[in-house]
Amino acid sequence: MWEIPYIRGAMIGIFDSGAGGLSVYREIVKILPKEKYIYFSDNAHCPYGEKSKEFIIDRAREITDFLISKGCSVIVIACNTATAAAAATLRQEYDIPFIGMEPAVKPAALSTKSGVIGVLATAGTLGAEKYHNTKEKFASGVTVVEHVGKGFVELVESLDTDSPHAEQVVRESVEPLLEAGADTIVLGCTHYPFLMDMIKKVSGGKVEVIDPAPAVARQLKKIAKENDLLRDDGPFLEALSSGDDSTLRNMIYHL
Ligand code: DGL
Repeated sequence: MWEIPYIRGAMIGIFDSGAGGLSVYREIVKILPKEKYIYFSDNAHCPYGEKSKEFIIDRAREITDFLISKGCSVIVIACNTATAAAAATLRQEYDIPFIGMEPAVKPAALSTKSGVIGVLATAGTLGAEKYHNTKEKFASGVTVVEHVGKGFVELVESLDTDSPHAEQVVRESVEPLLEAGADTIVLGCTHYPFLMDMIKKVSGGKVEVIDPAPAVARQLKKIAKENDLLRDDGPFLEALSSGDDSTLRNMIYHL
């Protein structure tokens, strides 16, 4: 991991199991362009998708302690799997605000015309109580079909998003949703927006694909304002990784 000098003042911390959370960061900087950010990729432990809840809570605690030690006063859990597993615990144990991810089931349920929405996410997210509560609350009037984006995180982490292999991997998880009649697909993992073009391609451009990141960015802005955490003296981004940082650097360069 890279070591960085301590930076005083309110910083915004963002973390994910890997580089996927950059899909959230890129929306955040559109509406908060002058803040100071530390992005942490836990790629030494990526993927989180099939790891136990306890393991993810432990990682989330360690990363939170690290981000706070670097001056972060608000943290975006830019990972649906970590939000589902650890957000409640973090909010109980720390007195800073946490902004988590929420699969966009509500807007999808409102916009579907076929009455069928597809959700792509990790096994951890789809199996979590949090997701089931969201579904019950907002999607009771529509049919929800789910599929793990099998191999998607690995594609993104290996920067392989538009090869024939990537197309085959994406097709295998998207086709079952299309066959079930979904006209709207929710991306419930922050890595998946980096496969947006491929998801649209394999679905023949016939579905609406929803990325919740812009809504999460708006929520961060609201919470940061309410807590007087905006500093307006950026832009600044420090990107750190618990393992190899080459994917992270490459993706930031191409954001
Ligand atoms: N990007 C993450 C998410 O939003 C985690 C993917 C993974 O590590 O499996 O769920």
